[in-house]
Amino acid sequence: HIFWMDSSEGENGDELLHVTYGTNAHDETQVDDSQICVVMVGLPARGKSLIAQKIVRYLKWLSINAKSFNVGSYRRADTPQPNAEFFNTGNTEGERMRRAAAEAAVSDMLKWFGEGGHVAILDATNSTKARRTWIKGQCDAKGYECLFVESRCDDPDLVLSNVLSVKTSSPDYVGQDPEDAVKDFMARIRNYEKVYQSIGDEEQVTFVKLINVGSQVVINAVQNYLQTRIIYFTMNLHITPRSIWLSRHGESQYNVEGKIGGDADLSVRGYAYAQALPELVAKSVGDAEITLWTSTMKRTIQTAHHLKYPKKQWKALDELDAGVCDGLTYEEIEEKYPVDFRARDDDKYNYRYHGGESYRDVVTRLEPIIMEMERGENIMVVTHQAVLRCIYAYFMNVPQDQSPWMEIPLHTVIKLTPRAYGTQEERFKADIPAVSTFRAKYASANMGAGSEEATENSGAPTEAPAQVDGVADAATTEAKDAIIASAVAANDVAKERGIEVNGDMLVTE
Ligand code: F6P
Ligand code: PEP
Repeated sequence: HIFWMDSSEGENGDELLHVTYGTNAHDETQVDDSQICVVMVGLPARGKSLIAQKIVRYLKWLSINAKSFNVGSYRRADTPQPNAEFFNTGNTEGERMRRAAAEAAVSDMLKWFGEGGHVAILDATNSTKARRTWIKGQCDAKGYECLFVESRCDDPDLVLSNVLSVKTSSPDYVGQDPEDAVKDFMARIRNYEKVYQSIGDEEQVTFVKLINVGSQVVINAVQNYLQTRIIYFTMNLHITPRSIWLSRHGESQYNVEGKIGGDADLSVRGYAYAQALPELVAKSVGDAEITLWTSTMKRTIQTAHHLKYPKKQWKALDELDAGVCDGLTYEEIEEKYPVDFRARDDDKYNYRYHGGESYRDVVTRLEPIIMEMERGENIMVVTHQAVLRCIYAYFMNVPQDQSPWMEIPLHTVIKLTPRAYGTQEERFKADIPAVSTFRAKYASANMGAGSEEATENSGAPTEAPAQVDGVADAATTEAKDAIIASAVAANDVAKERGIEVNGDMLVTE
């Protein structure tokens, strides 16, 4: 490991020591120096663009500079809505234009590599050996590696569902009758089939063949670790429809006191959320089978307690480690470590707490979680604010400078459903007040105790002892009673299970 050390003086004269290891925390995660062109291969409607987009999203989330070059988009600049005949190899004009589109895409890609691009995805059919040999020649000449990713699929139902779901919404067919579009698209595929050559061993290239969406995988001549990671990722992709449910733990006692980190129990309202969760989740789950993941911390385990799904605890889902600041409020951190407090706001993604973690560190430890989520089907994750931001950022493609600043409120379930293009999001809010743990960039460390902005769901101030003040703000007496009743019930359940609940929590009853 390389250790980077520097120190600075805090406003109160303390010396602040910054130590990071492994790499300069501000650099791109440089897994190795190779620059790779991932060349997609396959007939139309084999999910190539979807795989290409997922690889880009995954690598960018890991801070690897990646970009997709889609030949179809280049071709559309001249020929926006060609019919199937355009793709007939006997059509010289069509051939010429497709060749020109491929050349333009490859030329832009090489330029991008020249500017320091790391992994390019060449998203096209690249269905002939001649086309692949030409691409490889272009890359070899500049010292860029080629990794061919072929998606083969001979299951007619799979192909048809791809044709229907993706291509009827493709820009190539916008505004056309969907039935005509499907017919034309099938004719286009037949034209490609006439010349399609699957990658053969004689081509002596690095490749992965994904046959019928990963039911069989053939890998050849992998050269380095980054290639292995890309291949492993593509092997875990599947297209079975599924959803992912995300929730933070219920409000914790530390949340109420404005403290970060720790391993506190839930507050009374947190228990009420845990109790309300099965009903809240059931609405959007139906009969689906779900696996439930929590961190190893009490607050997520307690939150998941009433959900009757198979459960698994992951250390990797534990909250961002705040190091020496663990157990402090933002105000205390600002007072004790003013320079750090400011530095974290300046670059929250990269800032690493002394003896703790940065968001970048959290993303690194979440990689196996993301891999398992890609492999898996319906999964619900109950975890913490920072961890949830990182997972959400992966699925929703949120850039690094924004992800640590996202508002992910307590007592809310987020349902994400991956679709052919993009991920659909729904939010389900429990009618149980909770404090806000959100602090905007450069905002006061005193999170506006007593101000409306400092609250989530109902309006409870964050200043201790705020506890169930949200009850006082609830609109009707019935609402207040309901909140208190569920909180009391949750309290009783917790006590029955031998979990100690701070008696003060019920003080405002
Ligand atoms: O306040 C709740 C909490 O989960 C803390 O434990 C954690 O340090 C913090 O949120 C992370 O959020 P931020 O990065 O915005 O400080
Ligand atoms: C296209 O024109 O949509 C396309 C992907 O081109 P090609 O199959 O020639 O790579």
